[in-house]
Amino acid sequence: MQRRRSLRARPLAALSVSAPPRSALLVAPLAALALAAFVALPMAGYAPEAAAQAAKKEEFAPQVGQAGKDVIWVPTPEELVERMLRMAQATSKDFVIDLGSGDGRIAIAAAKKAGARAMGIEYNPDMVELSNRKAREEGVAGQVKFVKADIFESDFSQASVITMYLLPGLNLKLRPKLLDMKPGTRLVSHQFNMDDWEPDERDNLEGRAAYLWIVPAKVQGGWKLTAGGETHDVTLTQRYQKVEGSVKLGRIEAGLRDVALRGDEIKFAWVDSAGVRHEFRGRVSGASMEGTVRSEGGREGRWTAARR
Ligand SMILES: C[S@@+](CC[C@H](N)C(=O)[O-])C[C@H]1O[C@@H](n2cnc3c(N)ncnc32)[C@H](O)[C@@H]1O
Repeated sequence: MQRRRSLRARPLAALSVSAPPRSALLVAPLAALALAAFVALPMAGYAPEAAAQAAKKEEFAPQVGQAGKDVIWVPTPEELVERMLRMAQATSKDFVIDLGSGDGRIAIAAAKKAGARAMGIEYNPDMVELSNRKAREEGVAGQVKFVKADIFESDFSQASVITMYLLPGLNLKLRPKLLDMKPGTRLVSHQFNMDDWEPDERDNLEGRAAYLWIVPAKVQGGWKLTAGGETHDVTLTQRYQKVEGSVKLGRIEAGLRDVALRGDEIKFAWVDSAGVRHEFRGRVSGASMEGTVRSEGGREGRWTAARR
């Protein structure tokens, strides 16, 4: 205390001109070291600001159960990730988008195991950074990208496969947008369903559920169907992928049999006034349908339909 006060009191000139005392000769190298360290400090702060940032990111370790915007992070076990991609029958022709992609495992597996292009939409920027790094490490950075975004404000309409591990309420909130996707798009959800939209397939891995839906074409309503030079009024009633219908055969409203809609593929049959069964298979494309018809007795032909 006393020594410091006396130093502050001494004039600068006195300090500079007087010959250094013996003890000062010992202190000088230490002071030089301290100065060097002091000067070096701001340098360390500079340079490697980016490197320091990167090191910080490297240190980011996700914690199971950590908060997320609308749902916490819990990863899907790898075995179920694989099954979910198999349920979707993902291939190299697909574009897989994982909504709420966490550590990126589903999108990365889609690229590595199915050869698909893939994307993960994730709100937590640290998870996005981690996922992009993992994609680089796994050698699939050219096929997969992760973006920091809110799934409820993102356009994922280009996907041919959607994967999700969210919550029932979030699935329901997404449902209108999912139903509006291109017919045939496959949706796979870990654990949570979509209320009254029954899945096309339900799998189970040791108590964990996975559900598959195939986005159905929109066929509800009246159609004019032409086959073999005759035109018939067909009416279809649709609830998601489940379709019922009828055809006008003169004064008879005949029920359609064996109706099935899978994506944009439709099939149905009716028995005409002469008791002959006709089987129709075809594709829906917006406001029209077309395909082939096989009649009992072996006759085959084409049919088309347009909305009434
Ligand atoms: C249960 S985890 C599933 C992670 C990954 N899909 C999986 O199956 O391994 C849900 C993820 O969604 C993210 N998330 C929550 N709300 C989100 C939102 N609104 N937009 C984007 N991501 C969100 C969370 O941060 C979390 O990583």
